[in-house]
Amino acid sequence: MINNNDIKQLREELLKNLEQNNFFKAFELYCNIFDNLENKKYTDSIEQKNFIRFLLKVMRKAEVLCDDNIYNKLNSTLQIEDIKTQNILLNEHEIYNKNIELKSKPQSLQVTLTTLCNANCRMCGNKRMPKWEVSDFGVENIVSLLPYVQEVTWMGGEVFTHNKFNYLVEKSSFYETEQSIITNGTFYKDDIVKILTNNNVRTTVSLHSLNKSTYEYIMRIDALYNVYKFLDNLNKYRTKYFCLSLNFVVMKSNYKELINLIDFVKKYNIIEVILLPLQEEVMEFYNTENIFFGDNIDFDIIKNIRNITEDLSKEFKKLGVRFINNLPVFEYQKESDDIISKENDKKELIPVSTLNHNNENPKEKYKVCQYPWTKLFIENNGNIMISASCRSVIKEPMGHIDKDSLISVWNNEKIKSIRYKIVTDHCSEYCQKILD
Ligand SMILES: C[S@@+](CC[C@H](N)C(=O)[O-])C[C@H]1O[C@@H](n2cnc3c(N)ncnc32)[C@H](O)[C@@H]1O
Ligand code: SF4
Repeated sequence: MINNNDIKQLREELLKNLEQNNFFKAFELYCNIFDNLENKKYTDSIEQKNFIRFLLKVMRKAEVLCDDNIYNKLNSTLQIEDIKTQNILLNEHEIYNKNIELKSKPQSLQVTLTTLCNANCRMCGNKRMPKWEVSDFGVENIVSLLPYVQEVTWMGGEVFTHNKFNYLVEKSSFYETEQSIITNGTFYKDDIVKILTNNNVRTTVSLHSLNKSTYEYIMRIDALYNVYKFLDNLNKYRTKYFCLSLNFVVMKSNYKELINLIDFVKKYNIIEVILLPLQEEVMEFYNTENIFFGDNIDFDIIKNIRNITEDLSKEFKKLGVRFINNLPVFEYQKESDDIISKENDKKELIPVSTLNHNNENPKEKYKVCQYPWTKLFIENNGNIMISASCRSVIKEPMGHIDKDSLISVWNNEKIKSIRYKIVTDHCSEYCQKILD
C-alpha cells in the first residue's frame, strides 16, 4: 500500500524535479513506486488524482509530449472516475498525436467578464471599448467547460462588477478549477475578500504608485487607501497557500518608487512581483510617460531602473518572492557612455525575463505552439479567440461567447484549420510569428 507519507515524499521529489523541469525523473519515480505496490492501491484516491494532475503539470512545464507509454501508464493508474484529470491526460495525448479534431476539451480559459470598471486609468485602452459584459447565456456557456479545464483566469474591467462573479468562482471551486484574477484592488469589503480567500483565487493586484497624488494622477480615483484595506483584509482571511501578486506598470511618474516595493512586499506578504513597461494604448499618456520605447527612450532612467531592479532582485530572492521583471532594460549590461554604441544597443532591448528564459531554454523547443489545443480566450467584446498572446496574429474570432457554444466552437472549422496549418506547415503562418 502506498500511504500518504510516500505520496508526500514523492511530491517533494517531484517539486525538486519540477524546478529542474525534469519530468522523466519524476515519471520514473512515479512508475517505480507504482510498480512495486502489492495491490496497486492508494490509501487515498483523492490524493492520487491530485498527484497525477500535478505530474501532468510538471510534464507541461517541462514541455514533454505525452506519448503512448506515458499515457497508458497514467491512464491505467487513475483509479477513480475523474473528468478533469482524464481530460488533461487525453488532451496531452491528443497533442502528441497531432489530432485536429479533439475528443478532449481545453485545459485553460482566459475570460473577460466585463469591460466595466470603477477606475479610469489614464493608460488603459479598455476604458475606450464599448461597454460589454458576459450575458447569462455566456455565463452558463463558461460553466459547461469548468468540469474539464485545469485553470481559468477572470479578466476585466473589474471582475467584481459582474453580478455573476461570485457564482462563477463558486462553480469553478466546486469543479476544482484553479482560478486567478487581476484587479485594481479598490473593492475591499469582507464578502469579496472571503470569496477570494475561501476559494483560493490567485489574486494579482495592480498598483502603480504608493504615493497618493501619483496614484490619483494615474488612476483618476481616490482609492489608494481602499487598496491597502483590501490587502489588509486578504491577509486577515488568507490561508497558507493563497497566492498574492503585485502588478506594477513602470512609467516616468513612478519608476523612482520601485525601491519602496521591498518594504511594501514585506508588509503585505506579497509572494510575486511583476514589473511591466507602459504600453502604447492611450497615445497622449504614453507620449508623456513612456521611458522604454521609440524616441522617448531615456537611457539615464533605464540605467537607473536597471540598478534598482538588480537590488530588488537580490532582496526578493532573500525574501522568497518570485520576481518577474518584464522591463526591457537588458542592453545596459554592456556598460558604455558612448552615445553611438547606445544607439546600436537600442536594438537589443529585450525584457529581462525573456532573456533569462531564452538562456535557460534552447530556442528550438519553442517552435511549435500548442495553444489551439489547450486554450480559449474570451476577449473584451465577447469574441472567442485562442489566447490573448495570439491576438495580433490570429485576428478572426472562432465565435462569440453570448451566441456560440464553447464546446462546439472547440472543434469548429476555423479552429481545426488553424490546428491543421500548424501541424502541416510547422507554424510558419502562426506561431513562429508569436514565439520568435
Ligand atoms: C486592463 S487591467 C484589467 C484588470 C484590472 N482592472 C486591473 O487594473 O488590474 C489589466 C492590467 O493591465 C494594466 N494596464 C492597463 N493599461 C496598460 C498599459 N497601457 N500598459 C501596460 N499595462 C496596462 C493594468 O494596470 C492592469 O495591471
Ligand atoms: S483599473 Fe484596470 S480596467 Fe480599470 S481603468 Fe484601470 S487598468 Fe483599466
